[in-house]
Amino acid sequence: MQEKILILDFGSQFTQLIARRVRELNIYCEIHPFNNFPALDESVKGVILSGSPYSVRQEDALHYDFKTVHGKLPLLGVCYGAQYMAHFGGGEVLPSSTREYGRANLHFIQDGNPLFKDVPSNSQVWMSHGDTIARIADEYEIIASTDSVKVAAYQIKGTQTYGIQFHPEVTHSIDGKQLLQNFLVDICGCQQDWTPDSFVETTVAELKEKLGDDKVVLGLSGGVDSSVAAVLLHQAIGKNLYCIFVDNGLLRKDEFESVLESYKHMGLNVKGVDAKQRFYDALAGLSDPEKKRKAIGRVFIEVFDDEAHLVEDVKWLGQGTIYPDVIESVSVKGPSATIKSHHNVGGLPDFMKLKVVEPLNTLFKDEVRRVGKTLGIDPNILGRHPFPGPGLAIRILGEITPEKVDILQQADAIFINNLRAAGVYDKVWQAGTIYLPVQSVGVMGDERTYENVVCLRAVESLDGMTADWCHLPYDLLAKISNDIINNVKGINRVVYDISSKPPATIEWE
Ligand code: XMP
Repeated sequence: MQEKILILDFGSQFTQLIARRVRELNIYCEIHPFNNFPALDESVKGVILSGSPYSVRQEDALHYDFKTVHGKLPLLGVCYGAQYMAHFGGGEVLPSSTREYGRANLHFIQDGNPLFKDVPSNSQVWMSHGDTIARIADEYEIIASTDSVKVAAYQIKGTQTYGIQFHPEVTHSIDGKQLLQNFLVDICGCQQDWTPDSFVETTVAELKEKLGDDKVVLGLSGGVDSSVAAVLLHQAIGKNLYCIFVDNGLLRKDEFESVLESYKHMGLNVKGVDAKQRFYDALAGLSDPEKKRKAIGRVFIEVFDDEAHLVEDVKWLGQGTIYPDVIESVSVKGPSATIKSHHNVGGLPDFMKLKVVEPLNTLFKDEVRRVGKTLGIDPNILGRHPFPGPGLAIRILGEITPEKVDILQQADAIFINNLRAAGVYDKVWQAGTIYLPVQSVGVMGDERTYENVVCLRAVESLDGMTADWCHLPYDLLAKISNDIINNVKGINRVVYDISSKPPATIEWE
């Protein structure tokens, strides 16, 4: 049985980061919302309560009966989690006299406490709270303090329940990783055996068991997630996996051919489908970004459905869904407004009535890459920048025509090849070229030109949620601009996007 740690989410922005840190220690963990916590079984080795934007003093504070875990399994409350157990365990939480935010040092650490093994005195920690634990009940004892926070950490005496008001998961808490390791390995007794290799081994065995001789169809996109999902499924069921890779006419230059080739090299049973014209027809006359996205989503489903019907007796749809897409998040400020109707073209049309198999739905993106590496997938596929499902359609502002796609593909290939040649491709999180519906005057030789403008966009980011524009070297930008203007007919001006997200987004549409 796969041992695991459960993280109870009270809506903190850091909850996923706690999960990442646990997994970096090769320990499997799952995040669950505070009001939908699964039953504890033998596989659960310990529980972590997350932070929260709420205050335990608020009338609508988020409640969880921590006694369900306390005394039965090791329990660690972080920030709100710690304040919650202190307050509802007979102590008192009050607003801090000054907001405790930022770095502090643990000037007191209880000698020999297992949670602080190998954490030196004065270790720097990172605080972020507006409330503080003012008083603890008699059966609680203080095990660490900073100058301004007396109860920086406590233990319920004689038990394996701990609370810490600082955040061990952020890197500003210098020994945070050590503390988590102490909790997870020494206190919870986790084995640290959850590695990419063990993931592959158990997942392939589970898939074999689940799928038996059934057939599975899967849409490949050329991206990391669908590729890794396909290879895992392939290892489990071989030729019973039918992959479909659709050319929607909105991919990068030569991408369809080269990616198809690498899929074949990997031994996948893959069919390339040229559906360019169907997409161009559906896009004709559309310039509103949302309408373009919807049209592409609709045609993709039609094409995919046509192809899937050619596979006799297919029972399953394979998908490369990853963990961040399935974590049931605690909604703190209500459902966020739809900014773009994003993610992901495809999905399951109701009428297909297939069961869904998602072998990556417990992994974060970087873990998918590591699993991909273990599976021996082409580094060119694993290292590829994210690319939106609607492809170049949302990088051509306004109406799409095959001519504009062709021009953009040429300019974009020059941009990307130059990033590769200069050795900066892997340092950039995502890069692309945007075709602007703007013409400007230029001069080439003695001729006046009146042609289009393209914009280069390169960003640094961790997850696409926020991003900053990359400070690419001027010389490199100059070379790219020259190469594009000299080689791509129809473009006489190149600009660089220096907006960060927020307030801009990564894509222009
Ligand atoms: P934005 O533009 O919202 O993009 O800052 C964040 C990330 O999402 C990608 N993106 C999409 N991916 N379908 C997708 O599959 C879409 O409609 C879509 N729109 C944006 C974008 O490329 C970036 O990585």
